[in-house]
Amino acid sequence: MSTTTAPRDLYAVIGNPIAHSKSPFIHARFAEQTGEPLEYQHLLAPLDGFVAHVRTFIAEGGRGLNVTVPFKLEAHALADTLSPRAAAAGAVNTLRFDAEGLFGDNTDGVGLVRDIEANLGVRLKDARVLLLGAGGAARGVVLPMLGRAPRALTIVNRTAAKAEALVEQFAAAAGEAGCELTGGGAHAAGPDRYDVIVNATAGSLDASLPECGDSAFGDGTLAYDMMYGAQPTVFMRHAQTLGARTADGLGMLVEQAAESFFIWRGVRPDGAPVLAALRDMLLATVKH
Ligand code: ATR
Repeated sequence: MSTTTAPRDLYAVIGNPIAHSKSPFIHARFAEQTGEPLEYQHLLAPLDGFVAHVRTFIAEGGRGLNVTVPFKLEAHALADTLSPRAAAAGAVNTLRFDAEGLFGDNTDGVGLVRDIEANLGVRLKDARVLLLGAGGAARGVVLPMLGRAPRALTIVNRTAAKAEALVEQFAAAAGEAGCELTGGGAHAAGPDRYDVIVNATAGSLDASLPECGDSAFGDGTLAYDMMYGAQPTVFMRHAQTLGARTADGLGMLVEQAAESFFIWRGVRPDGAPVLAALRDMLLATVKH
């Protein structure tokens, strides 16, 4: 039987809103690249209809879902089993359905780490890393980041208590990784320059800058914003004026998708050409 006529395994991204999701484009490229026979759709669920939509999708033969805003916590609650990183994140962005039930994982943090190391060529081992923010996005990053054994990880948040709670949650994992984990309010960053600064706050959404002393940035700092857009974010522009190299979260988007693809198919696609295509598409929206 030829692959063109064989039934294709069904996947989708579920969220609300969902129309502008780039995941169908990314996974279609991954399927072409690897020759995996799959179809990937987008699924709009009403705010009170996540579980019902997942059940219907499974009943129709769906094999896996990417889960996006605002359903990542509900997906975490729905999963029968969780990966350690999804349990630590308290959120699920990838569901796989098989004979054992619903497996929930979270690939956002590993996507960030892989973009920094593989695409941007910055080594996290022994690096001094500053994580800005202590909400869901930041929480999902901590365990994968510790997995790369940075020398120090400092978590700074507008509400200091939330950063302190993350430090407490991940103290044992940091000890195992040999990483000095600290955190609190803006002062917790200290006076020294960091190798990597990750903006995991929601600040870029309303063009506000997370509080962080200028001395944290400098020549040799990678300032990474988990948000992305056609133009550099305010955080990136600020970091550039202080001499830092900058990156936005488009590569993280592609790499978290690559990890989801691997979880579903056991095949790891190459994110780099898909990232280049997406970047061209984003830039084209500015030019026209
Ligand atoms: P997400 O899932 O995107 O992480 P979240 O859990 O609501 O969303 O967390 C938002 C994060 O962005 C928090 O760390 C928040 O700081 P507080 O804990 O003090 O609320 C941070 N944040 C949002 N807007 C911000 C701003 N304008 N300046 C600094 N931090 C901001």
